[in-house]
Amino acid sequence: MKGIKWVVEDSVEKEVWWPSEELKRRAWVNDPSIYEEADKDPVAFWEARAREGLEWFKSWDKAYEEDLPYYKWFIGGKINASYNAVDRHVKAGKGNKPAIIWVPEPPEEPSRVITYQQLKDEVCRFANVLKKLGVKKGDRVGIYLPLIPEVHIAILACTRIGAVHSVVFSAFSGESLRVRLEDAEAKVLITADGYYRRGKIVNLKANADEGIKDTKVEKIVVVKRAGNEVNMVEGRDFWWHELMKDAAPHCDPEPMDSEDMMFLLYTSGTTGRPKGVIHTTGGYLTQAYWTTRWVFDIHDDDIYWCTSDIGWITGHTYLCYGPLLNCATLILYEGSPDYPQIDRWWEIIEKYKVTIFYTAPTAIRMFVRAGDEWPKKHDLSTLRLLGTVGEPIDRETWLWYFNNIGGGRCPITDTWWQTETGGTLMMSLPGIGPFMPTVSGRPFPGTRNAIVDEEGNPSPQGGYLVLVPPMPPGMLRGLYKADDKYRETYWSRYPKRYYFTGDGARDVINEHAPHIKEKGKIKHFIRVTGRVDDVMKVAGHRLSTAELEDAFNRHPAVTETAVVPQPDPMKGEVPVAYVVLKSGYRGSEELSKELVEHISKTVGPIAKPKQIFFVDELPKTRSGKIMRRILKALLTKDKIGDTSTLVNPDVVENLKKIVGYPD
Ligand code: WTA
Repeated sequence: MKGIKWVVEDSVEKEVWWPSEELKRRAWVNDPSIYEEADKDPVAFWEARAREGLEWFKSWDKAYEEDLPYYKWFIGGKINASYNAVDRHVKAGKGNKPAIIWVPEPPEEPSRVITYQQLKDEVCRFANVLKKLGVKKGDRVGIYLPLIPEVHIAILACTRIGAVHSVVFSAFSGESLRVRLEDAEAKVLITADGYYRRGKIVNLKANADEGIKDTKVEKIVVVKRAGNEVNMVEGRDFWWHELMKDAAPHCDPEPMDSEDMMFLLYTSGTTGRPKGVIHTTGGYLTQAYWTTRWVFDIHDDDIYWCTSDIGWITGHTYLCYGPLLNCATLILYEGSPDYPQIDRWWEIIEKYKVTIFYTAPTAIRMFVRAGDEWPKKHDLSTLRLLGTVGEPIDRETWLWYFNNIGGGRCPITDTWWQTETGGTLMMSLPGIGPFMPTVSGRPFPGTRNAIVDEEGNPSPQGGYLVLVPPMPPGMLRGLYKADDKYRETYWSRYPKRYYFTGDGARDVINEHAPHIKEKGKIKHFIRVTGRVDDVMKVAGHRLSTAELEDAFNRHPAVTETAVVPQPDPMKGEVPVAYVVLKSGYRGSEELSKELVEHISKTVGPIAKPKQIFFVDELPKTRSGKIMRRILKALLTKDKIGDTSTLVNPDVVENLKKIVGYPD
């Protein structure tokens, strides 16, 4: 798509891009009045979307019901996710359209194309395999797979028979897997022998074997991917390809109740143990379908690529369900962005003529550092739309992405959302705009948010980002076996009134961009500033300080730990630990290395602390709470502020010396 002209405002403060006429013409939505229309009656808006976008076996009796903190969508409706993601397209004559183009990491290995017809057959086969293994509707199935097509097949096979999938990121450790499998009480685990990462084979099965210890997992299905040597236990472990050999390619989709649990996804919260976020069927699918369609403006001829791992919500909604529900062709790349060289992604975009590209700021920052010459080697002119997700994006990174990857012609939609929200809830739509560095935008039509202070009063100049009921259809329906935690985390600050996101935000419309109000019919234009709780975003990955502290404290040398995020130019944030050792232990470089290794093993390599400070004491309040504010300020060299509420104010002087805080 050539010749797109952007309206670039003259001053840097006013960097605002509007979609060209061509882009507007092509876009599914291009009239800003959609926001007002949808806001008049969000329930009616979503009802129309659910009807238009999906095929229901039975329509619902009531669209929305709320008794906060709980709510339901499309009550009484019957639907199946895998039927909507594959069968529907085959029936409509799209069976030969590629659904997945799989790109293996080894450059010499050929890619694999899976059409919608093939995907349907494979999904049915594997659904029959699951049934044979004794999996029934409502049972939880663990999925611990790398980015290979079997991950889509396994996920869809679960939803086909009404089993609840719980996907665990393949780079998580065996222990992280174990905690999640145990909580979900999964019966079956699907994994692989290994996968490629930067040219080396990772032995995934070995982690899986550790991960099922002391859990209810009775059977493991193993995909043969890397051909590495693995330990197979007779009667417990089965090869995927052997089970699939005799499985029939037909399996009726289970009609699921709209509010039946569809999947669990564990995420880090403010406590030591990850929480199982519950997503149900009808509402999630509706939001996944429409946000993918409108935000990425997907059309029949698009080649769509979301680089997220399947282990995150972005992978669930925008690498699997969203694009498949829209009958899109998606790219699935197994490996590392810098293998064999730092231009692997650009090579893939060029080779497969990718048109829509969705990634995380942390990845873009890595490319910024590597230099402009890498994307310049490739023809990226097929791209027409870019997206980001996962953390706030800074202006320099945004502009680099816009100019060097998007060639100054592609809008960047900065999508804000969470594991809990199921689908993205804030962005600028490509046919409406505008697009502005660091600003996410406005709520997706039919959803509402606000920026409020502690009391819940509007605080547009800076405050907490909350969601305003009615709750969007794709929202979580609770935390698995943790009602208290659910109420406390999201609904205790503004009971029965607002959902608390844990993020801080600012409305920039009056500050930076008052001139766009009229033109875009915009009331609020929102910049998300980051978490206000004890959740970190490390290279876009969500980690809780408590989870890391827990892991540290399990090491025999450690009494107590405080982990705080430190701003990092590449990863956004990195964990730094203040560790109090047991008597008899002394802080040393070896011990520091050992602890880093311990965290890498118990939580996963992404959680490796950047630095460890051995300290005698942590700053605490009278009620025994660690004052993280102080620990953070020590790192950022900001003002330490008031220390009078500490029981041990003297400790601060000591800490200053240890971290090298300027006098
Ligand atoms: C952050 C990822 C700024 C935010 C989909 C949120 C963002 C948390 C953005 C959820 C964005 C996500 N701009 N911050 N566009 N998108 N976040 O559950 O802090 O892994 O609360 O879901 O990521 O992380 P999660």
